[in-house]
Amino acid sequence: MNYQPKLLKNNEGEQGHESESSDLLSALTSIIRFSINTKSDIENFFKNVVENISSVIPAKRVSLNLRGKRQYNSYDSHENVRTVYVPININENDSDISIGHIKLEKTQDQNIEPEELRFLETVAYITGLKFQNSILEVVIYEGLVQTLKVLVNTVEAKDVYTKFHSQRVARYSMGIADVLGLPKEEKDTLKIAGILHDIGKIAIPESILLKKGSLTNEEFDVIKMHTTFGNEILKPLRFFHQERSLVLYHHERWDGSGYPEGLAGENIPLLARILAVADSFDAMTSDRVYRKAMSFEKAIKEIKDLSGIKYDSIIVNAFDFFLRKEYLR
Ligand SMILES: [Fe+2]
Repeated sequence: MNYQPKLLKNNEGEQGHESESSDLLSALTSIIRFSINTKSDIENFFKNVVENISSVIPAKRVSLNLRGKRQYNSYDSHENVRTVYVPININENDSDISIGHIKLEKTQDQNIEPEELRFLETVAYITGLKFQNSILEVVIYEGLVQTLKVLVNTVEAKDVYTKFHSQRVARYSMGIADVLGLPKEEKDTLKIAGILHDIGKIAIPESILLKKGSLTNEEFDVIKMHTTFGNEILKPLRFFHQERSLVLYHHERWDGSGYPEGLAGENIPLLARILAVADSFDAMTSDRVYRKAMSFEKAIKEIKDLSGIKYDSIIVNAFDFFLRKEYLR
């Protein structure tokens, strides 16, 4: 990038500037440290930038706009508001392209200090770099999600009874998350984890996975390994750190009777408890070789009978509410 910001410097000898500069530096550090792995992180990163600027520069309003080109430091001055625009650039084919700007609005009686301008230039520079890197990260992340989906589809395609199981588990889980009012980041994690929860089945021999008769204890022990296999498959992929623990724990049960670790109650991650309900419900309401699918009404009754025993009752109630709203009207 050709555009180089001036480095922030303390105005030595001037009283009162040291602590201001250290505030500016800690705001910058927070912005630099923010890591961007997914699309929603980009949104959060921009929010973080605005919050950090607002926390160190007294202003009427701070915003980050990704559209609308503005000349650097162009000032609008109307209705007693002074506005300064600092462009955010990215580099493409060796030339800088403006992708937006940071907009700072002050009242007429608030000065725009040179140090504040230098800070904004630096923030805009970092934002440009981060945005550019994040595009690459998101491309890599989405490529990986697609690849993993293909793996999951491969497992599901082997067995006509599990076709689209992971999509349904993801949909039910998201429904529960909506009722519980979970934040967007957790919902994003849950959606991917819903899709990936049984990815470890790719490592289970087909002779066991597709066996028509009942399973021996030894065979069931092999099936149980899909949780740890899933965890191992995702381990080298730094993007799926949170999803990984949900893949590992989606067969844990509230009373500690699940696997692989026999975790109980709130020791099971919340999102894994949600997956457990969604996964069980979809298994009950899908045809199997050895039995027909249960009706939604019957399956939710079975789940409710096990509320507080196998499943977290708060999640069961949320799921019941979601089903009645979306499917059982
Ligand atoms: Fe599973």
